[in-house]
Amino acid sequence: MKLDEMLSTAGPQLRLLWLLSCVIVVLLLQVTDGKKDLTSACTTCKQITDNFNKGFDRTAKQNFGGGNTAWEERKLSKYETSEIRLMEIVEGLCDSSSFECNRMLEEHEEHFETWWFKRKTKHPDLHKWFCIETIKVCCPKGTFGPDCNACVGGSERPCHGNGMCDGEGTRGGNGKCSCVHGYKGEFCLDCIDGYFNEERNDTFSLCTECHSSCKTCTGATNQDCDECKEGWEEDDQEACVDVNECSKDPAPCGEEQYCLNTEGSYLCKACDKVCSGCTGAGPDKCQACASGYQDTEGTCTDIDECSQSESVCTKANQDCANTNGSYVCICSSGYEEQDGECVHTPQPEEAEEPEVSETGLHKEL
Ligand SMILES: *[C@@H]1O[C@H](CO)[C@@H](O)[C@H](O)[C@H]1NC(C)=O
Ligand SMILES: *[C@@H]1O[C@H](CO)[C@@H](O)[C@H](O)[C@H]1NC(C)=O
Repeated sequence: MKLDEMLSTAGPQLRLLWLLSCVIVVLLLQVTDGKKDLTSACTTCKQITDNFNKGFDRTAKQNFGGGNTAWEERKLSKYETSEIRLMEIVEGLCDSSSFECNRMLEEHEEHFETWWFKRKTKHPDLHKWFCIETIKVCCPKGTFGPDCNACVGGSERPCHGNGMCDGEGTRGGNGKCSCVHGYKGEFCLDCIDGYFNEERNDTFSLCTECHSSCKTCTGATNQDCDECKEGWEEDDQEACVDVNECSKDPAPCGEEQYCLNTEGSYLCKACDKVCSGCTGAGPDKCQACASGYQDTEGTCTDIDECSQSESVCTKANQDCANTNGSYVCICSSGYEEQDGECVHTPQPEEAEEPEVSETGLHKEL
C-alpha cells in the first residue's frame, strides 16, 4: 500500500499523528541547523568586517576627484570621513551571490553608519564592535557559545595550545577540544600511544613521538620503550630491536618466494622464474633450477632442447623452436598443421606471388 493510500484510508486521528511527527522532525532539524547557523553567522560577519577593512585601505588614497590644489587637499580630508567613502566601502562588502552576507548586511546596514560617524574613534576594531558587541554573532578569541564562555583550558591558550576549541570565536559550539595529532584527553595534555610527554605541568604539555620500535615509551630512544611494537623484541640490554622474521622456523614465506627482512616486518618476494626455490632475487640465487633450465656456473639458464643430440621434434616436416624453459615443434615453412600432421600448404598463386614482391622490392630500391 502506498503512503497516500494509507493516509486516505486511515482515520483522522492517525492522519493528525502523521502530521505531528512531520512537524517534530522539521523542528528537530531546525534545532541542529540553528547551532551550525551560529558559527556560520560569525564567519559571514568576519567576512564582512574583513572586506570593510580592505575597502577602507583601498579608498585611503582616493578623493572626490582628480587634482591636487589646496582646495582639493581640504576636500580630501573631508572625503576620509565622508558618507560617500562609507558607501563605496559598503558596496564591496558582499559578493552578489552570497545570500547570507547580503541578508546580514541588509539587516544591519544602519550599524555601519553609526560606527562610521559616531563610534569609529572610540572603537576602532570594527569586528569587535560589530560582530561581537553589537549584533552578537561572534565571541572574543578563546571563548565560545551564547555567553562567550572561556574554552576548555582557558581563553588564553584554548586546549592548552594542543587542539581546537569547538565554536571558538563564535556564539556557537560547545567549547570542547579536539586535540591535534599526538595529544588526547579533555584538556589535550595527555599523549596518545606512541608519543611521550617530553614536558608536562598543569597547563603545558609537549608530546614527542616514540622511537619507531616502541608501542609506548617514556623517552625518545629504543631503550625507553615500555613495550615493543609488533615486529620488534627486547634484547638483553632491554632495548627494542628488529625481529628477523626471515630466520624463523618455520620460514614465513612460500616455496617459490624468498624472504626479505625489513625494520619491524618482512616481505615475501617471488623467486626468479628460472628457479625452483631461491634465497634471493635473480637467476643466480636459485636453490635448484626450474624444469627446462640448467645450472651454468651458479646461474640457471635456459636449456636449448633443439640443439640436443637427440632430436625432440620427430614428425615429418617439423622444426624445433627453443623457448624459455621449453621448446615447441612447428611445421616447416610451406607446411601447415592438419590433424597433428604437417602437410604441404596448397598455394594456387605460388608462381605469381614472388614476382609481385620482387617488383615491390625494385620500386623501393
Ligand atoms: C609549565 O611549563 C611551561 C613551559 O615549560 C612554563 O612556561 C610554565 O610557566 C609552566 N607552568 C607552571 C604552572 O609551572
Ligand atoms: C627468454 O627471456 C629473455 C628475458 O626474459 C628474453 O630476452 C628472450 O627473448 C626469451 N627467449 C625466448 C626464446 O623466448
